[in-house]
Amino acid sequence: MNASKSIRIAVLPGDGTGPEVTAEAIKVLKAVAARDGFECSLTDFDFGGERYLKTGETLPDGAVEQLRTFDAILLGAVGHPDVPPGVLEKGLLLELRFQLDQYINLRPVKLFPGVETPLAGKGPKDIDFVVVRENTEDLYCGVDGFLKKGTADEVAMQSAVYTRKGCERCIRWAFQYTQRRNNPKGKRLTLVAKTNVLTFGHDLWFRTFQDVAKEFPDVEPDYNHVDACCMWMVKNPEYYDVIVTTNMFGDIITDLGGIIQGGMGVAAGGNINPDPGGCSMYEPMGGSAPKYTGQNVINPIAAISAMAMLLEHSGYEQSGRRVLRAIQQVTGTKMKSQSAGKMGYGTDEVGDLVVQALYNV
Ligand code: IPM
Ligand code: MN
Repeated sequence: MNASKSIRIAVLPGDGTGPEVTAEAIKVLKAVAARDGFECSLTDFDFGGERYLKTGETLPDGAVEQLRTFDAILLGAVGHPDVPPGVLEKGLLLELRFQLDQYINLRPVKLFPGVETPLAGKGPKDIDFVVVRENTEDLYCGVDGFLKKGTADEVAMQSAVYTRKGCERCIRWAFQYTQRRNNPKGKRLTLVAKTNVLTFGHDLWFRTFQDVAKEFPDVEPDYNHVDACCMWMVKNPEYYDVIVTTNMFGDIITDLGGIIQGGMGVAAGGNINPDPGGCSMYEPMGGSAPKYTGQNVINPIAAISAMAMLLEHSGYEQSGRRVLRAIQQVTGTKMKSQSAGKMGYGTDEVGDLVVQALYNV
């Protein structure tokens, strides 16, 4: 057990419904800490749209250095109707991913019991795979600009940058993760890219994938073009075990993953820096959902799942798994739906149900 351990978490509740779902994740954290006998200390930060509108800052000076000292970060949501698109995304979320070098974006695509999927005839046994998305390169890294902006001769450039180091560390981590996941149906890692068109960047990914695969003879190396992957995720999701992919394609296919696992109310992700002393950040995928703010109707399951991931990847595996089992008991036996306002319970009641379930899973 984790008896003598203590975890320090920085909490960024953020905008809109972020604070409401974060509160439920913390409620569950405190309960599982008491249940399993470990300490947790939480420090709140008010970064997000409201603060930006007041101060013009997304991340104040020194914030990254301060956050770096925590064991992990829990992020509620960023996004504010009065803040132009890109400001918070780039100034806060992407800035933290880059500055903290969280080079893995881990997105489990798991259909919990009782949760409806839009895929006809598919159930929890069929939809259970994980996407490992590279999180620091590609079209995201800001090698871009305008020429002659606003004129008829305007040029816009936005370059995809891939490095050997960047893809290799992500691919190696994905192989290791596939090994640890140890799927009883067989360990398979599928590289998702577009080698037939992106014959430079994705050639680098493909060659690196083949090289690293040699270190993992027990994992089946596999390849899908990204467009075909979108078809297979819908038609045969049971085919996948672990997918590794580039940042931009990973962004797109994980929304597809999110909807087949029951929607944004349940999908969670981790921005992980797996290096020693690395600081990782976990978040529900749902966004700030401004129209539901303050109504106690938003689904906290994704935020609670993010907390389960945080625990699992911060040295509290048993507790993380316990939270995940508790979530599944609640989706499977209590909740009517995963959509905001249709759950059959308020946001806070769903948190209470997960807390109760911790004692019988
Ligand atoms: C995600 C989000 C972000 C991304 C946005 C908000 C910048 O869509 O985490 O998937 O594109 O990575
Ligand atoms: Mn996305």
